[in-house]
Amino acid sequence: MKNNSKPLTIALPKGRLLDSVVSHLAQRGMDISFGSRKLSTVDSTGRLEVYKVKNHDLPTYVHHGIAGLGIVGDDTAAESGLSFTRVLTLPFGGTRLCVAAPTGTPSPEIPGGTVRVATSYVRMTRDWFHRRGIPVKIIRLGGSVELAPVLKLAPYIVDLVETGNTLAANGLEILVDMADIKVRLIANSAYFKLHYREIGELADIMMREKS
Ligand code: PRP
Repeated sequence: MKNNSKPLTIALPKGRLLDSVVSHLAQRGMDISFGSRKLSTVDSTGRLEVYKVKNHDLPTYVHHGIAGLGIVGDDTAAESGLSFTRVLTLPFGGTRLCVAAPTGTPSPEIPGGTVRVATSYVRMTRDWFHRRGIPVKIIRLGGSVELAPVLKLAPYIVDLVETGNTLAANGLEILVDMADIKVRLIANSAYFKLHYREIGELADIMMREKS
């Protein structure tokens, strides 16, 4: 059914989550198709105006209210340091944030000197070690973090683990399971108050069984 009110604005992350989000919405009657190289579109029901943005930029768009809504992992939201209204948790894309190291390395929780950790998740890593009073030296990397212990940049890494295949392929194992990472529908808090009813309807559709 075509929606007659103004569409809600929503940012979706480019990359591996996008296909899951698009298929989740399509299974509930909202088809999203971006023309070649186009970065914005309106879904087939007219309910959503969709912006395709870089994962790490998504919190910025929602924080500024450019997109009232966004779909994002807890990792990206936490690393942004910004706060949002959490509307709902989606049933896909969940991962774990873990401390890993070459097989046989002692846990970083065993008292010793400063723990050297390579990661893309600097804020979450810092918070986790600080909360436990463990001195930590964090080396920020943009990706392929599993290489760091192999090349002796740092003995420990903090990274997302889904299947564990990347760790295993690089001779690493999980030492600490730090946090469950979920994918959420988030909202700019002011936007949420203004569009409470429409966002509620969208959330109901997104939580439905697929049709
Ligand atoms: C993510 C994550 C791990 C890998 C985990 O990386 O950072 O490297 O996936 O998945 P697995 O447990 O199923 O092997 P991504 O592919 O997003 O690229 P990146 O290394 O550039 O972060």
